[in-house]
Amino acid sequence: MRPYTILDFERGSGNRFRRSICRNHFLNCYYKNIPLYVTLKNMKTRNNKIQKPSIPQTPMTATYNLPDGPQMPRWLRMIKFINQPLKYADDFAKIYGDTFTIRSSRSDNHIVYFSEPQALEQIFTADSSHFEVGRGNIGLKFLLGDRSFMLADGDRHQRQRQLVAPPFHGEKMRAYGQDIQTITRQVSNKWQIGKPFKIRESMQEITLRVILRVVFGLDEGELFEELRRSLSDLLDFITSPLMSSTLFFGFMQKDFGAWSPWGQILQKRQKIDQLIYTLLRERRAESDQNRQDILSLMMAARYDDGQEMSDEELHDELMTLLVAGHETTASALTWAFYWIDHSPEVHEKLLRELNTIGVNPDLSSVAKLPYLTAVCQETLRIYPIAMNAFVRIVKAPIKIMGYELPKGTAIVPSIYLAHHREEIYPQSKQFKPERFLERQYSLYEYLPFGGGNRRCIGMAFAQYEMKIVLATILSEFQLSLVNKRPVRPVRRGLTIAAPAGMRMVATAQVKRANTAALV
Ligand code: HEM
Repeated sequence: MRPYTILDFERGSGNRFRRSICRNHFLNCYYKNIPLYVTLKNMKTRNNKIQKPSIPQTPMTATYNLPDGPQMPRWLRMIKFINQPLKYADDFAKIYGDTFTIRSSRSDNHIVYFSEPQALEQIFTADSSHFEVGRGNIGLKFLLGDRSFMLADGDRHQRQRQLVAPPFHGEKMRAYGQDIQTITRQVSNKWQIGKPFKIRESMQEITLRVILRVVFGLDEGELFEELRRSLSDLLDFITSPLMSSTLFFGFMQKDFGAWSPWGQILQKRQKIDQLIYTLLRERRAESDQNRQDILSLMMAARYDDGQEMSDEELHDELMTLLVAGHETTASALTWAFYWIDHSPEVHEKLLRELNTIGVNPDLSSVAKLPYLTAVCQETLRIYPIAMNAFVRIVKAPIKIMGYELPKGTAIVPSIYLAHHREEIYPQSKQFKPERFLERQYSLYEYLPFGGGNRRCIGMAFAQYEMKIVLATILSEFQLSLVNKRPVRPVRRGLTIAAPAGMRMVATAQVKRANTAALV
């Protein structure tokens, strides 16, 4: 007899043994990993007829009310999670629906995926003290340092977040528009017409230079160049599809000297640490009190007891902003150029819209263009850069969508699955910016930047940056993919992205006077 699975039980596929047992007994065997047929066989041979099994003496584990989910050895699941991130989510959702549990065989720390808007609303609006989020990001400690607010919770998280968030919004953010445009032009002017180049590299150069400008107020000099090169070098190394595994398997994080992968990562990180500390020393010695960059704001800030931030604290927060603030936007821009080339009608509509705002438009009017906005939104919907928001670890039992989640459960708000709900996004696998013009989506239907008290602090900034970069490049160049075959996303560290080798060719854009014909 083959072992029973939970699906046999749920589907009620008509087995007489199954009908005679109670659900509790089935689940007890299931969670304890005892094949059900063994208990049934023992019962049958003992008195030659099937009896209702006694309710087990050991109390049922508090996980009995968790949603259903796959049973798969962890190593096998992780291989799929790392190598086929979208298929991983799609396959489980196909079998188990919106909400499913990845069970841990060793502890009560089960992982539950949610993607229904109602569930996401319950998670994001719950009192943040119900969850621990910092612990879920601990895998990034080697990169950010242990004082990063991404790894913190409670008051410390809130306080640091409030300190660094303002320059990424409103007027302060808009003041960076000109810098973003200048940097975009500097990078794109290096392209040679007709010669293929890697679009990701260019987008990464733009977003890294922008974030260095915003965070450090730096855009030239030896230290700036060294920091830019070292950061790119480290992040490209860590996020290569092969090295991404080290972020998920702790046993791979062993330093076996300069030639071992982990040893190399640590060496590269040390170099960046040195550069940041040099910069901090230089900045402390400087007399310019009028600097408006984030580093200066953080250096001027004081805790309630009058203390200033230590160099170690400054270092960790700076690393957090540098890492979170440019990789993601570079991936989003790369996808945007891919989709624009992939859909000629979208390209044409965009050019028509850009044509309406004249040759040297005010950048705030660029940011308000509806079709450009819709293209950016759809880019972040179809392949959200972060497939999931941060994991929320339950601190005390909580009920979400009727499921009692015990302490220790890891809640995963699945952005990707939420963005592919057919009832909300018909033909969800197709790139259709028009859907954002036809309908307003709620915060729990469309959430590329997560939600609740951990929602991305760079949300407004990233969208503003995307629009300026796209508008600036599209008014000068037409970018075409060298290989027109559809591209599947690949893992890039904790995020998903277009393959880093994707190449495009630039040709001069038909000039404004001529594009008027498109209108
Ligand atoms: C397209 C670009 C970006 C995407 C798709 C993105 C996405 C996200 C997501 C999904 C989260 C987790 C939110 C949650 O769990 O609820 C997050 C957090 C965060 N993001 Fe972004 N992000 C982007 C750009 C940026 C930029 C430009 C910055 C620059 C400052 C930034 C800084 C952060 C930080 C610091 C956090 C942690 C927030 C916290 O722990 O409170 N991100 N981002």
